[in-house]
Amino acid sequence: MLIMLKEIGLIGLGVMGKNIALNLSEKGVVIKGFNKSKDKLNEINEEFSDNFEGFTDLDELVKNLSVPRTILLMVPSGEATREVIEKISNSLEENDLVIDGGNSYYFDSEDNGEYLSDKSIDFIGMGVSGGEEGARKGPAIMVGYKTKISNELKNTLSSIAAKAGKDCIGFYKGYGSGHFVKMVHNGIEYAEMQLIAEIYQLLKSSNKTNEEIANFFDGLNDENRSSYLIEITSQILRKKEDEVSVIDKIKPVASNKGTGKLTVETSLNLKVPVPSIYAAYDARVQSNNKNEWATNTPNLEGLSEEDLSNCLYFGRVASMIQGLELIKKYDSEINLGDVLNNWSGGCIIRSNLLSELNDINKTTKNLLGDKNLNSLFQNNLSSTKKVLSKATVAEVATPVLSASFNWYINLTTLNNPSNLIQAQRDYFGRHTVQFINSNEDVNIDWN
Ligand code: 6PG
Repeated sequence: MLIMLKEIGLIGLGVMGKNIALNLSEKGVVIKGFNKSKDKLNEINEEFSDNFEGFTDLDELVKNLSVPRTILLMVPSGEATREVIEKISNSLEENDLVIDGGNSYYFDSEDNGEYLSDKSIDFIGMGVSGGEEGARKGPAIMVGYKTKISNELKNTLSSIAAKAGKDCIGFYKGYGSGHFVKMVHNGIEYAEMQLIAEIYQLLKSSNKTNEEIANFFDGLNDENRSSYLIEITSQILRKKEDEVSVIDKIKPVASNKGTGKLTVETSLNLKVPVPSIYAAYDARVQSNNKNEWATNTPNLEGLSEEDLSNCLYFGRVASMIQGLELIKKYDSEINLGDVLNNWSGGCIIRSNLLSELNDINKTTKNLLGDKNLNSLFQNNLSSTKKVLSKATVAEVATPVLSASFNWYINLTTLNNPSNLIQAQRDYFGRHTVQFINSNEDVNIDWN
């Protein structure tokens, strides 16, 4: 029998918190939960068969947990999380553990970890993906820990994680590493969502009905090229209210809570190109801008479903690899195989692609640069070119598909034109150049 934690204190009984709590209690863990409202606690209590005790006072909750305590925070990231940490840290004792299971920025988790560590309290930054259903039935869990993690906690978290051959849980060293991996997951999520939206737009511009577009996405299943996001897209496109497709009633203005932007900012700081993710974030931002010139209703002809499928796949592989490269740059000790396994079930970007990439990753030390990975791009390049050419002629915007294509072409082109950039920099600012086969910085006499 695996040893598990007996009880967990839980602060934040919103949608995600409550569902994680239900999932934990089903595995035998007693949940001692905090909420300011007694009525809310009674309501929540009804949903638990047993294993739940509610507290309206934080100090009471802390007092009622046996030591060493484990407290899981499922509260909004940023200030709210920090505020709770500061508040409870005054009543916690040495060797107690605080787990932040929200969507926190990884820098904040590093900071919160150090803050608690100064009081000899342990901290774990934990990314959780899968939305409400995932939290309840099995999310993907990305755990960031400083130096040690108990077997009880490992077993407990593994027991609630999604299963896809293995438990979809990853353990990464560093207070912020779990949240870093989750942040990149979200960046890839943005790219995959926008890629699917671009294919939808291309099909819509080819006068396909929502039903026909849903059929196209369903068909990707037969080729093993579906994904959770593709599956929900078919369902969204089929949804009708009063005989009218719901999708046609939704304003084309996209929101975001910021994790995509953080991925892009981080990529700029770490100098790792993630143009597909960047383009996806940018497309959301642009959708909010009022466009005075909007009169264009594109009309496309002659796109084959096979080319669309290949092109979508090309973009998905590109986005995934860009995200993995970002993780590798953040911490080269992180095993990308572990990340791919971590994401293969429960999370929003789960799909067969993860295990396909995992198979390739097992045979190489350098995923980007591996010939088998390159074949995935090469086999779908001709379709991608066809789709992008037709989209260009018909004036259909394809920000992520195009960014993915350009990223790949840049990677595979022997000489890029940056020699000219260097020459220009030296011409107007004497910023120096290096000649081929030399590492010496020199100025050119341009006169
Ligand atoms: C998940 C999701 C989840 C949430 C994000 C994205 O993995 O379960 O990524 O974390 O949907 O917050 O939200 P935005 O699209 O609003 O940035």
